[in-house]
Amino acid sequence: MSIQFDTSRQIFHLQTDNTSYVIQIVRGYAAQLYWGKRIRSISSASSLRYVDRSFSPNIDPDDAAFSLDVLPQEYPAYGHTDFRNPAYQIQLENGTTVTDLKYNTHRIIKGKPPVAGLPATYVEQAEEADTLEIELVDSVINLKVILTYSVFEKLNAITRSVNFTNEGKQDLKILRALSMSVDLPDDQYDVLHLSGAWADERNVERRPLTRGHQLIESRRGASSHQQNPFLALLRQGADENQGEVYGFSLVYSGNFVAGVEVDQYRTSRVSLGINPFDFSWLLNPGESFQTPEAVTVYSDQGLGGMSRTYHKLYRTRLARGEFRDKERPILINNWEATYFNFNADKIESIAKKGRELGIELFVLDDGWFGHRDNDKTSLGDWFVDKSKLPGGLEDLVNRVTSLGMKFGLWFEPEMISEDSELYRSHPDWCLHVPDRSRSTGRNQLVLDFSREEVGDAVIQMVSAILSSAPITYVKWDMNRHMTEVGSPDLPAERQRETAHRYMLGLYRVMEAITSRFPHILFESCSGGGGRFDPGILYYMPQTWTSDNTDAVCRLKIQYGTSIVYPVSSMGSHVSAVPNHQVHRHTSLKMRGDVALSGNFGYELDLTKFTPEEEELVKQQVAFYKETRGLIQFGEYYRLRSPFEGNDTGWMFVSEDQSEAIVMYFKVLAQPNAPLDTLRLRGLNPDYDYKVSGLEQPAGGDALMYAGLNIPRLEGDFQSLVWTLRKV
Ligand code: DGJ
Repeated sequence: MSIQFDTSRQIFHLQTDNTSYVIQIVRGYAAQLYWGKRIRSISSASSLRYVDRSFSPNIDPDDAAFSLDVLPQEYPAYGHTDFRNPAYQIQLENGTTVTDLKYNTHRIIKGKPPVAGLPATYVEQAEEADTLEIELVDSVINLKVILTYSVFEKLNAITRSVNFTNEGKQDLKILRALSMSVDLPDDQYDVLHLSGAWADERNVERRPLTRGHQLIESRRGASSHQQNPFLALLRQGADENQGEVYGFSLVYSGNFVAGVEVDQYRTSRVSLGINPFDFSWLLNPGESFQTPEAVTVYSDQGLGGMSRTYHKLYRTRLARGEFRDKERPILINNWEATYFNFNADKIESIAKKGRELGIELFVLDDGWFGHRDNDKTSLGDWFVDKSKLPGGLEDLVNRVTSLGMKFGLWFEPEMISEDSELYRSHPDWCLHVPDRSRSTGRNQLVLDFSREEVGDAVIQMVSAILSSAPITYVKWDMNRHMTEVGSPDLPAERQRETAHRYMLGLYRVMEAITSRFPHILFESCSGGGGRFDPGILYYMPQTWTSDNTDAVCRLKIQYGTSIVYPVSSMGSHVSAVPNHQVHRHTSLKMRGDVALSGNFGYELDLTKFTPEEEELVKQQVAFYKETRGLIQFGEYYRLRSPFEGNDTGWMFVSEDQSEAIVMYFKVLAQPNAPLDTLRLRGLNPDYDYKVSGLEQPAGGDALMYAGLNIPRLEGDFQSLVWTLRKV
């Protein structure tokens, strides 16, 4: 059992292979005692200390040394002596917002129960995790709150979520219900998060903590390009390969908040959950509310150690379905080749060339339905545009599959164009508020997925198309953020539930469609990586990483994404030059090597390649077919950061360390450059490896500690690839 309870000291000790997490019940409050490297047991040498602090009020007038304002807590309340950021806040019928949750009982369970209605990590065997449920009660209002902790002992992660049940007689309004809160005893950390913009997602930002509240959030109705629902705390001095790191990741795709508050005594409170901004939830007597799951990871092996823990957990126990462990196909997508301007012959010609080059899957992107010749029309009309595809979808799919290629299709199921039959019949099916105009983004409105009938209609429309032809892949896009967030179905006191209800509706629809079509590989997308989050990964094992396909930009985007997300989740394609987003010319070799570092594909007009380029593409395709098992499912090590200089390095190592692939990229040529050596990681120091291009085998130890000489490179946009095989 990875969870022990010491009854006499009222201490819970949660242990993974490398982590201990210790909670103590102190005067009824769940207090945080220790979180860090695994220990056998907590000793009195590090017990909680109580001192009288001015301006920290006392719940017991006879004990000036006890104040919640300085007690490290697991789920702090508002209004009852703690002035720091609360984890939850409830409004009573009398309008007040002061509550007090005390320990009532607990349960320790083998395995990990699902998180009702929400995506979450899971176990396949009960032995993989143990779960602790701590039940807290506010006895004045009969509110029951269960703090759930699941311990993945071998995978080294602890997940947390919270459930509220109103067992009282009055209506309660939840104003804030975060998924987790934890108080760390000092502030000697840097905070790291992944921020950006459309076409520039997940830049790695790192800065020292300072007193006060530092937070990242989304108020866009999606996890967003701008911020990712993740943050890490790194011990000052910790880096990619060493030092202590705490990771916090939220399994949710909507508005979130992730914050760290450094208080007056320099303790650090980390909190993560649904953004309380414009959120509330009415909890009638007898009702429950479930928060999303937060996944926490402690690593004493730097950021890289933390990332690899997330990769394995998310790849094997968050992603689901047939494709979770299956090698992903090499695809050709027509978006940047044709945009909206195609017909069946053009598609067939690209697919035919793809087949000749060894590509396995053709993906028909936007523009095949309604009368969608541009982005002003037809979203919601999920029936084939016969003027482009006169033989219908079935005919086109036949033409493509008879070439020996699989067929995939683009949808944007959450959206509606004002110019659509769907909108004309259901003008109230979009998110909107009375008496206000409906703002558009990319000329479209957002379907109100908080409404069951809307979700059901989408399930029906998408399913009809997917059943109509042998489609083996779907790209599920989402191209704007929410405005005028309101739903005509909800009463006034529930309007602020709309955004979260949308997410619950979206998850229901995704669950229905993905489970109805288990043989289809689903790739999510939101204008590229606008919803690259663990919530969506639960339904769809891969995501289009960014609309920016420039190889140089992709170095940063893919590197930043890898901080949390596994390589098997990242779509990466070779596109044409000059690049359509930044107009840069990079070599086909470098574009290929960057794209080979994820779920590989092409997104250009294959018929326009020169014979020499075709030759190189054939080699890239053949190389990927040989190596994709290792690339998609191996251990990933970052070697050089594109955020720190002119070059980037990363490598993939098989779990048994017998094989590896190393990639190195140099963006701009350097005059009279220094001689450079790349130190590898993750190899077995006792193994000898045959390194491509080297006559003699090299020891794993030598490759990691002495390094691999980088040949002198001439010209901009260079890349190198080495394969290593144990001899
Ligand atoms: C945004 C996506 O990210 C692109 O790849 C493409 O599918 C377009 N939408 C189509 O409208």
